[in-house]
Amino acid sequence: MGRDIKIAPSILSADFARLGEEIRAIDAAGCDYVHVDVMDGHFVPNLTIGPMVVKAIRPHTAKPLDVHLMIDPAQPFLKEYADAGADIITVHAEADKHLDRSLQAIKDLGKKAGVSLNPGTNEAALEYVLDRLDLILVMSVNPGFGGQSFMPSQLPKIKRIRDMIGNRPIELEVDGGVNTDTIKSVVDAGADVLVAGSAVFKGDDYAATIGALRTAAA
Ligand code: DX5
Ligand code: ZN
Repeated sequence: MGRDIKIAPSILSADFARLGEEIRAIDAAGCDYVHVDVMDGHFVPNLTIGPMVVKAIRPHTAKPLDVHLMIDPAQPFLKEYADAGADIITVHAEADKHLDRSLQAIKDLGKKAGVSLNPGTNEAALEYVLDRLDLILVMSVNPGFGGQSFMPSQLPKIKRIRDMIGNRPIELEVDGGVNTDTIKSVVDAGADVLVAGSAVFKGDDYAATIGALRTAAA
């Protein structure tokens, strides 16, 4: 019996003209988290949503909003995302200048704190902030867009981070190119939360897809 895994559909691939409906649909389809990709067109070459959209989607699900901030700077906006209803706020190790201070700020806001690493960033970046973390988000694509191919080069990094976590209560989330073909290798490497954007939203039966992802991971 494999580890319990969580599926976090990324709304980046949802129909933004019907976002509340899409959130209700993935909630009903059995997702564990709702992964919200925030992009500023500076840290990544794409521009998506701000705090007011997080506030708008909040009432449509009781599932945790797993907010992935691909923005730089992130620190000035942490309170806005917390007030908008984020449950987990994840900043990039490559953004801002003071990662430890950002994580302290997220915790002071009463939210779960996460750090995300781009594919080119070594896991050593986590070493001095591990004890502040509730979640580590490993990018298995270069951030900015959904529908990209999974980068197998990240599998050894996921394994090493699983070892670094030890028995700390930290979730290990992987994000990018996760689908029924790639999910088992990612879970076997040590991930327990899987982001799936295009894999979920490209089909029309979200429950079937989420179920297929869980089966493929087992
Ligand atoms: C990419 C985002 C990912 C993306 C995942 O910058 O952080 O969450 O939406 O999409 P898929 O699952 O289609 O790779
Ligand atoms: Zn993401």
